[in-house]
Amino acid sequence: MKMTMAAAASFMLCALFFAGSGGTHVEPTTEAVATSEQVPSTLPVCKTVGGGSVFFDVQFCLEALGSDGRSANAGTDYHTCSVIAADLLTANATTTAAKIAGLLLRDRGGKGVDDEATTRCLRSCEALYGGVVRRQQSGCAAAVRGRRSGEATRCLEEAASAAEQCEDGFRKSKVASPVTMENDDAFKLAKLAVALLRMAR
Ligand SMILES: *[C@@H]1O[C@H](CO)[C@@H](O)[C@H](O)[C@H]1NC(C)=O
Repeated sequence: MKMTMAAAASFMLCALFFAGSGGTHVEPTTEAVATSEQVPSTLPVCKTVGGGSVFFDVQFCLEALGSDGRSANAGTDYHTCSVIAADLLTANATTTAAKIAGLLLRDRGGKGVDDEATTRCLRSCEALYGGVVRRQQSGCAAAVRGRRSGEATRCLEEAASAAEQCEDGFRKSKVASPVTMENDDAFKLAKLAVALLRMAR
């Protein structure tokens, strides 16, 4: 499902690119495929924030917002989209915190990653993600909803930096990170929410 959406989205971007380049002949078969796929309603929003970001691309934005049913009616409402992104961040961070706790639990049973450096890094990540979840629940998400953009942006930037710090810990200790993908997602979701919030002003 995710891949299908990603493929559809990237195809659409190509189609738009060619359409925009002017005079380029588009084959009828290509056109037929393009119109049979549904254009995500978040495409204009995602092109705006993703096109101007060094942290995430249009594709990430489309996939993230598209994973939440509310985005179907969000249209070009940047504020609604930022609320969705912030909620996705909360869900993501909660799942990641649980995954980290699970890895540490396995450690204590002596069956998981048993090197000390990895355990130390995971403990620090556990605290970092615990902080993210706590802040999201105790005001960060509400600040996004309430359009208190200064407070919300600070909060979200803290979440992005927590994900970076978690990943950095493993890198500095020269051990493999079992949560690279999760850190990447959390970082990008936070940056996406910040960018959407900025546009909502
Ligand atoms: C975390 O966010 C990414 C990007 O939106 C998404 O692909 C992934 O499925 C999410 N994971 C969870 C557990 O919510």
